[in-house]
Amino acid sequence: MGSEPSEAYVSRIASYKGLTALVTGASSGIGRLLALRFSHEGARVALVARRAAELESLAAGIRAAGSEALALPCDVSDLVSVEQACTQAIARFGAIDLLVNNAGYGHHRAFLEWDLADMERMMRVNYLGTLYFTRLLLPQMVEHRRGWIVFMASVAGRIGTPEEAAYAATKFAMVGLAEALSIELEDAGIHVLTVCPGVIRTPFFDAEALERMPPVARRRFVEPEKLVEAILKALARGKRELTYPRSISVAYLVKALAPGFMRTQVKRATLGARSRGRTAAGRVR
Ligand SMILES: NC(=O)c1ccc[n+]([C@@H]2O[C@H](COP(=O)([O-])OP(=O)(O)OC[C@H]3O[C@@H](n4cnc5c(N)ncnc54)[C@H](OP(=O)(O)O)[C@@H]3O)[C@@H](O)[C@H]2O)c1
Repeated sequence: MGSEPSEAYVSRIASYKGLTALVTGASSGIGRLLALRFSHEGARVALVARRAAELESLAAGIRAAGSEALALPCDVSDLVSVEQACTQAIARFGAIDLLVNNAGYGHHRAFLEWDLADMERMMRVNYLGTLYFTRLLLPQMVEHRRGWIVFMASVAGRIGTPEEAAYAATKFAMVGLAEALSIELEDAGIHVLTVCPGVIRTPFFDAEALERMPPVARRRFVEPEKLVEAILKALARGKRELTYPRSISVAYLVKALAPGFMRTQVKRATLGARSRGRTAAGRVR
């Protein structure tokens, strides 16, 4: 007598052959590498970002390697564009099995120096873009009783850090959405993976961001290929959360058990490091 496959079994991606993935933020960094890797593993990929030329060149490379790819230029903060992208992706591929909500950007800035319009835009891109794609692609996943949704959040979505307030808010919002949906959608056959990367070497950090970055963070850069590898492993194992590098997860425990201590450590590593840097520079002069 055959037994029902366990929840853990159906939540795992055993093979990418026959799957279709839609990756937002596919023109650069983590999203670009993820799309390349999915296609290498046999998936068809829909590529979303604003820069059409980058997407077309990535799609051409994927097709030249023998896989299927569709470039869908789109600003994820614009609902009408997102609707068009989803319609085009489904029309071309029939269904989207794997959605990666990855498009996003961030700044390091003292709150009062931060332009209000930029803070609002960041929420639209990082959070509302995620909400739109999830809401629009979920019905066909539920209908097929199969789907995976990856939320590219951040450690900044678990631990609030000075001079990242508006960015952290977008990522806390993503983590909340993902955590709740993970439970709500489980019985519908939809698996949610929340990814919280630490500091990954991508164009996310421009010269200004690198300049403002606390030394402790600058020393912890990880290559994006390693993160992508960890994401594929997490999907293969049916994991629901991935913080990468994994060692950072200890900080969540410290925050829960000793919040006062955690606060002091975060302040010391960020604002404290900056004022020590200023003092040292002053002495040199
Ligand atoms: N790098 C890190 O250390 C790190 C750490 C934690 C979390 N993350 C998260 O990882 C994700 C990917 O970042 P990354 O490091 O790969 O940075 P990246 O190389 O700058 O890539 C960001 C991607 O998002 C796209 N994007 C930005 N605004 C968009 C919009 N309005 N509409 C559509 N696409 C948009 C960009 O494409 P276009 O410019 O072509 O639109 C680009 O493809 C982000 O959500 C980021 O918050 C990164």
